[in-house]
Amino acid sequence: MRKKIIAGNWKMNKSFDDAMALTSEVVNMINDEYKGSALTVLIPPSLYVNSVSRMVKGNVFSGAQNCHQEVSGAFTGEISAAMIKSCGAEYVIIGHSERRQYFGETNALLAKKVDSVLANNLTAIYCCGETLEEREVNKHFEVLKSQISEGLFHLTNEQMQHVVVAYEPVWAIGTGKTASTAQAQEVHAFIRNLLKEKFGAAVSDNVTIQYGGSVKADNAVELFSAPDIDGALVGGAALQSRSFVDIVKAMK
Ligand code: 13P
Repeated sequence: MRKKIIAGNWKMNKSFDDAMALTSEVVNMINDEYKGSALTVLIPPSLYVNSVSRMVKGNVFSGAQNCHQEVSGAFTGEISAAMIKSCGAEYVIIGHSERRQYFGETNALLAKKVDSVLANNLTAIYCCGETLEEREVNKHFEVLKSQISEGLFHLTNEQMQHVVVAYEPVWAIGTGKTASTAQAQEVHAFIRNLLKEKFGAAVSDNVTIQYGGSVKADNAVELFSAPDIDGALVGGAALQSRSFVDIVKAMK
């Protein structure tokens, strides 16, 4: 049985005090209200990862939004996967479309970042997704195939078991325009099949594939009913405890 995971990516939002309040609210609400078995992951700005990691418990975990590919050294302003691990987090988002778009991160660089995450016994949440232009000219499968193959196909079967894939169509991020359940399921099945061809069914059947892009409590139930959608990577709706916990509760 593959894990169901709902992760909240807070992006560059919240003061420290607000981040602490959100963390304690989510931890308490999940422990009080949620009876399902999905895992919850809180992914604050890196400055708060240490504090958030000390507050999570039960089925709530913490993560970081990015890391540098090197272990340590003269890389002013960067943080390593080993540092994230030492703060108690368990997940690192790699290759979010905002990193690809605004910070020029390529599949080749992301492959190195994934290695660094896995070398530190963390789980990578590897993001992929096409732009609107790419979908409109029907290039989305080609783009997704390069993102997945160039970022992940160098891994061993054992390593791939510590990777979560997040499909986030760029046109659905922060736009209020969610992919339809059929569109998302079609891509998730495509990704799982790519992974099956490379790593075999025993691995691909167990890879958690999250959907991201304007997920809200009212579209989560339907999205989560699709056979290959194993959770969500949530942006805007993760910034408030009630809206985020309601998305977690949509995963029965
Ligand atoms: P929104 O949920 O705000 O569309 O953001 C999705 C996202 O980018 C999560 O990583």
